[in-house]
Amino acid sequence: MTVAIIGTGNMGAGIARLLASKGVKVAIGSRDPAKAAELAKDIGAGAEGCEIKAATKRADVVILAVPYTAAEETVREAAGFAGKILVDISNPITPDYKALTVGHTSSAAEEIQKLAPQAKVVKAFNTIFAQLLPVAARQGRRVQVFVAGDDEAAKKIVSDLVAKGDFEAVESGPLSNARYLEPVGEINIHFGFFLGWGTSAAPAWIKS
Ligand SMILES: NC(=O)c1ccc[n+]([C@@H]2O[C@H](COP(=O)([O-])OP(=O)(O)OC[C@H]3O[C@@H](n4cnc5c(N)ncnc54)[C@H](OP(=O)(O)O)[C@@H]3O)[C@@H](O)[C@H]2O)c1
Repeated sequence: MTVAIIGTGNMGAGIARLLASKGVKVAIGSRDPAKAAELAKDIGAGAEGCEIKAATKRADVVILAVPYTAAEETVREAAGFAGKILVDISNPITPDYKALTVGHTSSAAEEIQKLAPQAKVVKAFNTIFAQLLPVAARQGRRVQVFVAGDDEAAKKIVSDLVAKGDFEAVESGPLSNARYLEPVGEINIHFGFFLGWGTSAAPAWIKS
């Protein structure tokens, strides 16, 4: 299976490194293919860098690792999502990071599903700071990743990738539950950036 990762920023590079380190083939797509190629070279075996459309074309799973404000243009550029899983990791936040711009009656994930109606959109990773993507950074803690989506098979594939990255995948119901996961991402930003916890903060849901 090839996983496309669109965006070479904190999350895109972190997820690409994590998955490649676990033997998953990653195709990194960027507005600047040279940047993607450079990142892929740095990651090494199993990684390649290319244009956004080319990365999407060769992948079964596409992880959208761009700001929510860039989702529309990126999804349009990627195109051709028929039969593919599109993972939305975004938190639709204001420029000061302090509030959400979408909520209550929709979510970034649902809006992205509207932009790519042929894709099976799955929400994941939005409550994890990029700094926790390297396994060593978690210092043995079992960190949860909440996975929501309407297609059970797609959700299982994404959950398996999450588990490959040594995270605990938490089944979080339908895609519309992204309306509740995105506020969890936002409060985590407040803990991490504005309340002094730092970027090793992560939510942990307790189950008896
Ligand atoms: N950082 C975190 O800890 C964290 C945690 C959870 C969720 N998220 C979510 O993950 C997504 C990516 O966050 P990030 O922290 O990785 O952001 P980032 O470091 O700013 O990287 C975003 C990447 O998106 C690509 N991009 C495409 N169009 C863009 C545009 N118009 N403006 C800026 N970048 C554009 C760029 O890659 P190319 O130049 O290669 O195209 C850029 O490097 C966001 O939706 C964010 O809400 C972030």
